Amino acid sequence: MTIRVGLIGCGLMARAHLPGYQTTGERVEIVMCCDNNEQLAQTHAQNIGGDIVVTSDWEQVIANPNVDAVDICSPHFLHAPMVLAAAKAGKHILLEKPMAMNLTEGQQMVDAANAAGKVFMVAQNQRYLPEHQPIKDWLDQGAIGRVIAARIDGNQFLSRAYPKGHWLFSKALTGGGVIRTTAIHKIDLLRYFLGEVKRVTAFYSTSGLNPEMDNEDVATIAMEFENGALGEAFFTFASYQNPIPTASHELVILYGSKGMINNINGWNMYSTELEAYSSAMTPMGLPNADYTQSFVREVGHFLDCIETGQEPLTSGRDNLNTIAVIDAIYQAAETGKATTVQRI
Ligand SMILES: NC(=O)c1ccc[n+]([C@@H]2O[C@H](COP(=O)([O-])OP(=O)(O)OC[C@H]3O[C@@H](n4cnc5c(N)ncnc54)[C@H](O)[C@@H]3O)[C@@H](O)[C@H]2O)c1
Repeated sequence: MTIRVGLIGCGLMARAHLPGYQTTGERVEIVMCCDNNEQLAQTHAQNIGGDIVVTSDWEQVIANPNVDAVDICSPHFLHAPMVLAAAKAGKHILLEKPMAMNLTEGQQMVDAANAAGKVFMVAQNQRYLPEHQPIKDWLDQGAIGRVIAARIDGNQFLSRAYPKGHWLFSKALTGGGVIRTTAIHKIDLLRYFLGEVKRVTAFYSTSGLNPEMDNEDVATIAMEFENGALGEAFFTFASYQNPIPTASHELVILYGSKGMINNINGWNMYSTELEAYSSAMTPMGLPNADYTQSFVREVGHFLDCIETGQEPLTSGRDNLNTIAVIDAIYQAAETGKATTVQRI
């Protein structure tokens, strides 16, 4: 059975998802493209080719009985209304991160998708990066023993990446700056690698280097995991003019009781448990941040889940615990107090 997909929001991420659909052959057909900038939807449909209905009204995508699934790549403030309507109409849903502006919205979305009995997957694409699955497998096999600590970071300069007036600069339209928009990627990944986060502390600031931004663009975060590991994160959208290229060089260091893993100049491991890695930090021969592959694997997994009924690795249900960490980070920064993460 061919899965008929409607795309809602035809900007940067819709273009990034496209290779995922183009490599799936007969399994999927894109039948609608929607963007409130209709020209963008039109251009996207032309690039895909074939008989695609173009609209500027997302409710038409939801109302169309020929659409089985929607792929939502819209600004954050539209995630909840679009998902709630799509679930009510019985569509399977792939939604870009962050799932929600807050936990209350997220819970409503998950409840609606559960009531509909449809797949609801959040596009946390970093879990689908080809190198991250082998890393997860090594950790589960105890290659570096008990993980005792993790360090992550990300550096971007938002004003270089997005034009003036873009919705990403606005707190009202995003529900948060560098924390909710970008740190969420690696925080979700650390949940996958290490387990749940128990408590957080955080500081954030708005640097002024992104003149239009009323959101935080610098953040430092400390995390305590349920298993006792500690995590340290630094994320900024204010890496002035010359960011460290993040897609390929966001830092991950995992410190274990029997070794270490890091992604400094490629993925490396030291392990007293494994002969081949026991003398020093040793290259693991893994690819480094092949972002296109992450979208291909992500979309493929979404289609697998529709076909088999399995819960996605990055289901809305799972992602509630990521949103809970993000909400706790904002609360910690705003109150100046270590904050316990609400477990769902
Ligand atoms: N996974 C990643 O690495 C990654 C990277 C960047 C952004 N994102 C996420 O992807 C989502 C989209 O971000 P983007 O960078 O593609 O932004 P974008 O601005 O390039 O695309 C969003 C599109 O939504 C359209 N839109 C706005 N209101 C609409 C409406 N009412 N109806 C239909 N379309 C509407 C806009 O015109 C725009 O074309 C966000 O949730 C963002 O956080 C993920």
